[in-house]
Amino acid sequence: MYPLARRALFSLDAERAHELVGLGLRALHRAPALRALVRAAVAPPPDPRLAVRCLGLSFANPLGVAAGFDKDAVMYNALGALGFGAVEVGTVTALAQPGNPRPRLFRLPDDGALLNRMGFNNAGAEAAARSIEAHRPRGLVLGVNLGKSKAAPLELARDDYRESAARLGPLADYLVINVSSPNTPGLRALQSVEALEGVITAVREALAGRDVPLLVKIAPDLADEDVDAVADLAVSLGIAGVVATNTTVRRDGLRDPEAARALGDGGVSGAPVRARATAVVRRVHRRARGRLTVIGVGGVRDANDAWEKIAAGASLVQVYTGFVYEGPGAARRILEGLVTRMEREGVPELSSLVGAG
Ligand code: FNR
Repeated sequence: MYPLARRALFSLDAERAHELVGLGLRALHRAPALRALVRAAVAPPPDPRLAVRCLGLSFANPLGVAAGFDKDAVMYNALGALGFGAVEVGTVTALAQPGNPRPRLFRLPDDGALLNRMGFNNAGAEAAARSIEAHRPRGLVLGVNLGKSKAAPLELARDDYRESAARLGPLADYLVINVSSPNTPGLRALQSVEALEGVITAVREALAGRDVPLLVKIAPDLADEDVDAVADLAVSLGIAGVVATNTTVRRDGLRDPEAARALGDGGVSGAPVRARATAVVRRVHRRARGRLTVIGVGGVRDANDAWEKIAAGASLVQVYTGFVYEGPGAARRILEGLVTRMEREGVPELSSLVGAG
């Protein structure tokens, strides 16, 4: 059925299509009885072989929705009903902001990719917090991804993150410090060790002793030495983990790089970022030698892609672009495919696959 729906959705402007789908998911988020029906029809039945324990949390399965899909924390329970074990909401910034002018989201179907320069359009930390308070997460783990408000100067970034963390930390199962979006000027400079240490310290202060696992989300475009430096810093500060990776500013892996360049600035997601994201997962996992939890994200569309991330060292996997292309049955297909392959290869539980290859 989704191929038909997808054809209709793909005939619309990409952001318009996302808004339409979002309307349905928002309604489902607020309707528990309907959610139960959808869960019964769409989600795979829970399978203990897929259960993951990490970050001090219990995940029903390793598959989550990546940040950017539910920016305002208004549809995560609907995504849970589709079978996802976790949703990372946001990026949320301290201040509400409109993001970049439209158009700012484009499909690159021949590449199985998207290009976006959304620019952290969101209703702000206070609105996200109220939304979570009104509808608590049910049967899924809720991550909250924090970014810097565009209006906050880079030197004051730590205060901006501190403010969001103070409001949202108590409502999140885990927090992600996003320093890797290409669409907020200067943001990625916060991946340097000195700047990142300041932001992490500020977020820690805001949590005031509350034990919320803290992760850092990094770009696929970091040089290997910089990936190592972030991993070392995360270990030395006792951070819980790393989310690898965000979108790429590179265009060279695309079928038609010139056509993509003509669309303008932004980050590319989906298949073109898959191999590099897996390499970054592997690098962080090896470097940290078990001291960091890695969430692998970038170009996952089927069970084999998810398997690749886990074998490289990811304890959890996220999807965004693959979900857009595969539709509401994506979680079911990926999770059932994982179990099939586990049976075939004699893997009794997922945790024994993490970092195995
Ligand atoms: C994103 N992504 C993203 N990441 C983030 O940390 N904060 C955000 O607000 C967003 N927003 C966003 C919007 C859109 C339209 C896309 C396609 C992506 C990045 C996303 O979470 C993920 O890291 C990458 O897209 C790579 O995964 P996929 O899409 O290849 O599965």
